Amino acid sequence: MDNPVISLLASRRSVKPDRLLAPGPSPDELDLLLRIASRVPDHKKLAPWRFIILEGDARARLGEVIAEACIAEEKERPSEIRLATERGRLMRAPLVVAVVSRVNPHRSAPEWEQILSAGAACFSLCLAANALGYGTSWITEWIAYNARVKSALHLAENERIAGFVYIGTPAERPEERERPALADIVSRWEP
Ligand SMILES: Cc1cc2nc3c(=O)[nH]c(=O)nc-3n(C[C@H](O)[C@H](O)[C@H](O)COP(=O)(O)O)c2cc1C
Repeated sequence: MDNPVISLLASRRSVKPDRLLAPGPSPDELDLLLRIASRVPDHKKLAPWRFIILEGDARARLGEVIAEACIAEEKERPSEIRLATERGRLMRAPLVVAVVSRVNPHRSAPEWEQILSAGAACFSLCLAANALGYGTSWITEWIAYNARVKSALHLAENERIAGFVYIGTPAERPEERERPALADIVSRWEP
């Protein structure tokens, strides 16, 4: 079908973070991406998400916190190789956006729906970046769940990391990945 949106959706693939090279999005492009990501379905207009931009030196500085968190987490001191990996975790791509899910109690927008909206924000961010020709990876890894890292990101009690979205120029086109057969996941309701 000759429809660019359908082609994008039908062929999308994640690109591994270390295959996302410079350049990343320009400031204007990033602004556009974040406006699109904050346009997702949002029951009761609660904006149950926010975005933390990690680029340039900020990635290395948070990497130091990540390495410290790794040392604190492990029983024995991690190897220098492991620590170098942790320090460089956010440096794998030129831009990383931490998408934060923030839930506030609401009578008619249950917590579950607010969390789903944050997931939608992650995916919209990916798709919009893909439409501009960038590769993306929506991942969490251990750092999304670590108290020290969350504190360094200034997350409040009601906030969680929905994902770190890595964005950059793809080094190559990723290979196809097997998808579930529709027959296995689709049914027609019968009473
Ligand atoms: C909330 C969430 C967290 C994820 N975290 C990770 C992760 O930590 N590591 C990982 O390899 N993939 C993670 N993934 C999966 C990748 O985003 C991606 O879907 C996977 O690599 C397959 O590629 P595809 O998107 O082309 O199917 C996560 C996906 C979601 C929705």
